Amino acid sequence: MITQVLVLNGPNLGRLGIREPEIYGSVSFDALADLCRSTGRSLGLHVDVRQTDDEGEMISWVHEAADARMPVVINPAAFTHYSYALRDALAMRTAPLVEVHISNPAARESFRHTSVVAAVADGTVAGFGLVSYQLALQAIASLVAEHAEHAEHAEHAEHAERAQNAEQAEP
Ligand code: DQA
Repeated sequence: MITQVLVLNGPNLGRLGIREPEIYGSVSFDALADLCRSTGRSLGLHVDVRQTDDEGEMISWVHEAADARMPVVINPAAFTHYSYALRDALAMRTAPLVEVHISNPAARESFRHTSVVAAVADGTVAGFGLVSYQLALQAIASLVAEHAEHAEHAEHAEHAERAQNAEQAEP
């Protein structure tokens, strides 16, 4: 079964390639989206890449992912540092969640050192340029595989318990 994954990008990331190329590189957002889709394909994931400058739209996508039990890779951009509303939306997640950054916020201005979303994610990948997204998708693929294995184990254990109970109930 193919797993659907959302790759969500916050404000100003649509301007990749033109925006501060010394920090974010010269590759466009469309090229990043292509890279995410092809990386996803090689990992057995169907990747839907989206970008918005609007906090409300971002939050509605996070709700959509939670309702559909869809894993999410998110680069919240500047929302990372102050959006409690986005953090609260992400806290309702029902599937793996990885935070991603192109630059390394820890090595930049002090306002970038705080992530209000990090604590509700499975983990964060930052500082590797566009490779950060590839690593994040790899993390999603392994978390999805782990979850599937746990679910299978739980199902086996339940079957075994039911069989044992039925045996004990026999006169
Ligand atoms: C960013 C880092 C944020 O601090 C910044 O506001 C961004 C991009 C990154 O990918 O490096 O817009 O999330």
